[in-house]
Amino acid sequence: MSYILGIESSCDDTSAAILKDDVLLSNCIASQAIHEQYGGVVPEWASRAHLRNIVPVVDVALSRAKISREDLDAVAFTRGPGLLGSLLVGVSFAKSFAQALDIPLVEVNHLEGHVLSHFIKTATASASGTSTMADLGMASEATQPSFPFLCLLVSGGHTQILRVSSPFDFKILGSTIDDAAGETLDKAAKIMGLSYPGGPVIDKLATQGNCKAFTFSKPRIPEYNYSFSGLKTAFLYFLRDNLKNNPHFIEEHKADLAASLQKAVIDILMEKLVKASKDTGIKEIAIAGGVSANSLLRSSIMQGKQLYGWRTFIPPLSFTTDNAAMIAIAGYFKFLMGIFAPLNSAPYARGRY
Ligand code: KG4
Ligand code: ZN
Repeated sequence: MSYILGIESSCDDTSAAILKDDVLLSNCIASQAIHEQYGGVVPEWASRAHLRNIVPVVDVALSRAKISREDLDAVAFTRGPGLLGSLLVGVSFAKSFAQALDIPLVEVNHLEGHVLSHFIKTATASASGTSTMADLGMASEATQPSFPFLCLLVSGGHTQILRVSSPFDFKILGSTIDDAAGETLDKAAKIMGLSYPGGPVIDKLATQGNCKAFTFSKPRIPEYNYSFSGLKTAFLYFLRDNLKNNPHFIEEHKADLAASLQKAVIDILMEKLVKASKDTGIKEIAIAGGVSANSLLRSSIMQGKQLYGWRTFIPPLSFTTDNAAMIAIAGYFKFLMGIFAPLNSAPYARGRY
C-alpha cells in the first residue's frame, strides 16, 4: 500500500491530490479567478498565484486525506506541457518536498494524466474529500477502459485522438493542425462578450438555444486530424456581417449562436472519432480533458453505445478540467514500475504531444 501526492500547476489551477494506491483520498483545487477580467490566462499572474496557493493546497489535501506528510511514499508532479512559470512552481515544490521527505519523485506528462484519469478509483463520496463529488454519478457504468482504447483528448490547448495500449504506450492517431476545440469555444465566447473560460458558458447557454438556427461549414482535413481555425473565422465573419444590419444581433441570438457553434464543434470531434474507431476496430472509447465536461459531447459519446456498439468511458466532471488526482494516478503507475525522476528534471512548455 502506497500513498502518492500529486501536484498540478501547468496552467491556472493549483492542485494537490492524495491517492492510496489507485484510490482517491483527496483532490484539492485552487482556481484563479483573476484571469476572468482579462478574458484569458495571464502567465505572470498565474505563476504568482501558484506561489501563494501551493503550500496551503498541499496542506488541505493531506488533512482531507487524513494522513501526514511522513506517510507519503512518492511525489508526482506535472513536468509539462504548460506555462513555464506555472510549471516551475509545482516542479520546484515537488522536488524540495520529495527531497525533504527522502522519497521518490515521479514526473508526469499533463496530457497522459488527463487520459489516465479513467483509472482513478473513488471511495465513497464522503470519504473521498474532493470538493465536487456530487457529479461522480456521471461516471459510465464500466468504470475503466480495457487496453487498447481510443481516447479523444480535448482541452484548451489540445485536441487529439490517441490509441492507448498501456499506461505508458500512447500513439497519436490525429491532432489539430491549428486551434484546439476548447480554445475555439473560448475565443468564440470572447467574441460574443461572454466570460472566460467560454466553454462552460457556451455549454450552459446552448441548452436554451436551437442548434439548427445557424450552420457553419465543416473543415476537410485528411485522416484523423482536426482543424478549427476556419470555424472560428467563419463565426467571427458571420457575427460581423449580421451586426452591420442589427447591432443587437448577438444579444438577441445568444443562445442559438452558442447551440449552433457548440454543435459544429462537437460534430467535427465526433466525425473523426467514429472514423478512427471504424478503421482501427477499437470500440473502447474514452474522452478526457476540459472539453469532455461538455454536455453535448458527453451525450454524443453515450449514443455511440447504440450506434456503434462502443463501450464508453466518460470521466466524472471533477476529473475533466485540470486536477492533481490525474497526475497522482499517472505517477502511481510509474511508481509501481520504479520509473523515477532525477532532481534536475526541468519543466517543458511543449513536447511529445
Ligand atoms: O483540460 P483543461 O482544464 O485545461 C487544459 O489543459 O487546457 O481544459 C480547459 C478547457 C477550456 O477551453 C474550457 O473552456 C473547456 O476546457 N471547458 C469546456 C467545458 N468545461 C471546460 N468546454 C465545453 N464545455 C464545457 N462544459
Ligand atoms: Zn489540462
